[in-house]
Amino acid sequence: MAVGFGKVILLGEHAVVHGRPALAAALQRGAEARTVAAEGPELEVATWELLLRAHGERDPGPHAMLQSAFEALLEAYEPPPALRVQVELSLPGGAGLGGSAALSVAVVRALDAALGLTRSDDEVAEMAQRAERVFHGNPSGIDAAMAAHGGVCRFERATGVRTVRPARPLPLVVGYSGEQGSTKQTVASVARQFEREPERVGEIFDAITAVVQNGQRAIEEGELDRLGQLMILNQKLLSSLLLSTPRLEEMCQAACEAGAYGAKLTGGGGGGCMIALCEGPEVSAKVAAAIEAQGREAFITEAGA
Ligand code: MEV
Repeated sequence: MAVGFGKVILLGEHAVVHGRPALAAALQRGAEARTVAAEGPELEVATWELLLRAHGERDPGPHAMLQSAFEALLEAYEPPPALRVQVELSLPGGAGLGGSAALSVAVVRALDAALGLTRSDDEVAEMAQRAERVFHGNPSGIDAAMAAHGGVCRFERATGVRTVRPARPLPLVVGYSGEQGSTKQTVASVARQFEREPERVGEIFDAITAVVQNGQRAIEEGELDRLGQLMILNQKLLSSLLLSTPRLEEMCQAACEAGAYGAKLTGGGGGGCMIALCEGPEVSAKVAAAIEAQGREAFITEAGA
């Protein structure tokens, strides 16, 4: 089975689009894909009961973009493979957990396996980035890189991914606000703010960079309380870029009151998911329960699949 990992951004989303570093961790959840023979390239997403044909009739619904993204991936395959890629997703879409990148990486790996092609993780991520551009406009590449590499990483547009080694596990609770965020829209909104107020927004990016650098040391030194404080700080900086929502704020507050070291939105924002860093299983269970008590979904995980 070919796999693509979902991810959470621990620190640094949005600033990473503008060339700053960010820290991310792969999730145990993501996408799995395999192929069966077909007349031409087809994509089946069982989770959404969806079957698309490349270059076939345009999907009239919300999956038109997926069809174009699939076609972008296929540009690297000549002749077009007579294969149906069957994908199963274990992540909600539009939740900021890298679902589209996980899907693209799983599709590339499944096609490569069937065609006897070998590619490095970096090359797979580069392929997935073609589809990410269709979905997200101007993505930094962090989602595609994490979907291919896994683990805990620092990412920068200029240098790509570097593995970060946590001194101890990073127990996380992921809470889903139920509000669909559009990364394409929030990335465009931050770009507009940066254009209008380069100094103010540039200072926010500088502050986020400092948070990321400090956060990397906290991870490498196993200081979860410090990392939690930095997450709280990062959340404030993201809020000042109008990326949070009242619901995400409530969820972060509930998580901290239930004992999390820190909490923040993760990914594109404007809805989607938040993460809370916990000491271990007991705190994680309390934090997840506090989020669920607000009528939201939560799952417990450990960063760095
Ligand atoms: C999305 O997971 C993270 C953003 O920084 C966008 C990107 O880096 O492409 C919001």
